[in-house]
Amino acid sequence: MKPKIIVARPIFDDVLARLREHFDVTDNQADTPWTKASWTKALSQHVGALTTGSDPVDADVLQACTHLKAVANMAVGYNNFDVPAMTAQGVQASNTPDVLTETTADFGFALLMATARRITESEHYLRRGEWTQWRYDMFAGAEVHGSTIGILGMGRIGQGIARRAAHGFGMKVIYHNRSRLSAEAEAECKASYVSKETLLQTADHVMLVVPYSPASHHTIGAAELAQMKPTATLINIARGGIVDDAALAVALREKRIAAAGLDVFEGEPQVHPDLLTVPNVVLTPHIASASIPTRRAMANLAADNLISYFTQGKSLTPLNSVSA
Ligand code: GLV
Repeated sequence: MKPKIIVARPIFDDVLARLREHFDVTDNQADTPWTKASWTKALSQHVGALTTGSDPVDADVLQACTHLKAVANMAVGYNNFDVPAMTAQGVQASNTPDVLTETTADFGFALLMATARRITESEHYLRRGEWTQWRYDMFAGAEVHGSTIGILGMGRIGQGIARRAAHGFGMKVIYHNRSRLSAEAEAECKASYVSKETLLQTADHVMLVVPYSPASHHTIGAAELAQMKPTATLINIARGGIVDDAALAVALREKRIAAAGLDVFEGEPQVHPDLLTVPNVVLTPHIASASIPTRRAMANLAADNLISYFTQGKSLTPLNSVSA
C-alpha cells in the first residue's frame, strides 16, 4: 500500500503524476479553499503533505494529526510551520531553499526599479488617458544607479540583490543582519555591515529580506519609517508582518518617505485598505518567486522532499531532524 499524502493546493500536472507513482495522493486541483477546520481534518487522514506558505501546520493542527510523518513546504519561508512542535511530534519539515534565490532577487530588483521610477503609477495615468503633453517633472522619481541600497536581512536572496546592485547598477551596498557575512562574501557583494539605525538613516532604498518570526514582527513601524530619508523608498519582499502596513500607509500619504514597493502584506491576501488608495506604492500579490522554471523547480523539490523522506527516511532539504 502506498503512503497517503495530500497536496494542499493546485500544482503542475506532471509533478502530481510523479507523486502518484509513489503515493496515494489526495489533490486539490480544483483549488477548493480550506478553513482551518477542514484543512486539519483532511491533513489528519494523511501521513504526508505538500503545502504552500498559506497552509498552517501549527500546534493546534498537529494535535489532530497523529499519523502525520512529513510535510514539504513549497516555499523557502516556513512561518506557517511550528517547527519545534513538528519535531516534538516526529514530523519531518522541509522547505525549498536555493532554487528560488536568483528569481526572487530579480523580482526584488524589479520592484525597486518600478517603485523608484514610478512605473505603475505612470502607467495608470497613461491608461486613464491623462497624458496630454511632456513635462519636465512628469513622474520624475529617485535615482537607482549610483545610489545607496540598504539590505535588511543578508541571506541568500539578500546577497543576490546586493550582487545585482553593486555589479549591475554601481550602487553602494550597506546591510544589516543578525550575523555579519564573512569577509569573502562581503567582498563578493561589495557590501558593508552597518547598524540598523545607520541603514535606515542613510539608504536611498531600503530592501527587506528578513525571515518572519515573532521577533521580526513590525521590524519596520512608525519609529523606523521616521528614521528614513523623506526621499527614500522601502521594498518588502520578505513577509507580511515585517512592516506595520497601517503605519506605512500613513508615512506614504504624508510623504514621510517617497514610495514603497510591496509583494507581501499583513493578513494577505487582504491588503490594508489605506495602501490601496495611496498612489506612491507598487503592490504585487506575493509573486517574487513566480517565474515558470522556478515554480517548477520549487514544486519538484517539494515532491522530492516527500519521496526522499518516505523512501530514504530523510528529506533533501529538511528543517528539522527526526527519526523515521
Ligand atoms: C515565498 O514567499 C517563499 O517563501 O518561498
